Amino acid sequence: MSTHDLYTSPVAASTWDVPLAGDARFTWEYDDGRDKLLALYQKGKDKQWDSVKRIDWDLEVDPQNVLGVPDQSLAIYGTPHWDKMSERDRGELRRHSSSWQFSQFMHGEQGAMITAARIVESVPDLDAKFYSATQTMDEARHVEIFSRFLQDKVGLVYPINTKLQDLLAETLDDSRWDMPYLGMQVLIEGLALAAFGVIRDITTKPLPKQILTYVMQDEARHVAFGRLALRDHYRELSAPELREREEFVIEGCHLMRDRIRGREIWENFGINPAEVDELVTNSPYMRMFQSLLFSRIVPCVKDIGLWSPRIRATFEEMGVLEASRADLDALMRGDEEQAERLDAERFAAEEAERKAEVDDVIAAEAATS
Ligand SMILES: [Fe+2]
Ligand SMILES: [Fe+2]
Repeated sequence: MSTHDLYTSPVAASTWDVPLAGDARFTWEYDDGRDKLLALYQKGKDKQWDSVKRIDWDLEVDPQNVLGVPDQSLAIYGTPHWDKMSERDRGELRRHSSSWQFSQFMHGEQGAMITAARIVESVPDLDAKFYSATQTMDEARHVEIFSRFLQDKVGLVYPINTKLQDLLAETLDDSRWDMPYLGMQVLIEGLALAAFGVIRDITTKPLPKQILTYVMQDEARHVAFGRLALRDHYRELSAPELREREEFVIEGCHLMRDRIRGREIWENFGINPAEVDELVTNSPYMRMFQSLLFSRIVPCVKDIGLWSPRIRATFEEMGVLEASRADLDALMRGDEEQAERLDAERFAAEEAERKAEVDDVIAAEAATS
């Protein structure tokens, strides 16, 4: 079935074309990569996996309750809008909400794949090209996973959010190699990563949990690359050049803040999105959720050296400055460990099942002999 049959509103059948900006760079230096980048490339190769095999796609998903999380996570919960909804409508709202969330992940992952490929072309050094080639493959896998989940399990797809599309366009429409990386990896994927983490930790359903846990294992490497490559590069930039990057981050964060509002969902339910915006602004729960969503962006921006008073003031005004204290290394290590633990648990369960089957056969044979 075509994805176009599953979109909540019609989407142009043609491709969205973003003109290529900047040069493809060849290097003739094949030696002497930076140890840390080469180690990350090696890890990228070692940790490749196949989503067809590693994820248990037979697990059932209830489209009306994809994540099995409390309804308090819906912005209109407890309002007159919610009170007058039937159980069926509430199920539909849950379905739309999950579909919207995962659809933005999917479109964002396509952006990540295209950006990673762009970086293979444009970044000057071979070690970074090597690494980005493995990331391109990771992002392809992520697009594959989210699209399969949406199409086969949720049965409903949202078009790309316009703010996300604006940021993608700005990110790709820049000839400087670091800008796509800053926009994509630090902002768009930083936000997605935090959202993955929140959902991974609260969902009670095994399939979305597997998907997010394994995708996050890859993302931990991507963030590490962004930090290494950008930190090195930004040390060498002049003050005006750094200011341009900061402007870009500030504008991007405002776009991301608007992107997470999910206005399209409310419009589909005949609810005025401005009213929901106000609910979100006044709800301590929603504000906490928003600051959690910036918990990966803020420390990363600080870490790569874009930490002027202006940036700090922007984060302060958005209520997310606290997140700068987060320990990114520990968060990433935790993400990798969670994936390894999940594998171990699943394999232990399979092992026990196999052993029980063998024991049954032996017992049956003993009984007949
Ligand atoms: Fe990704
Ligand atoms: Fe990524």
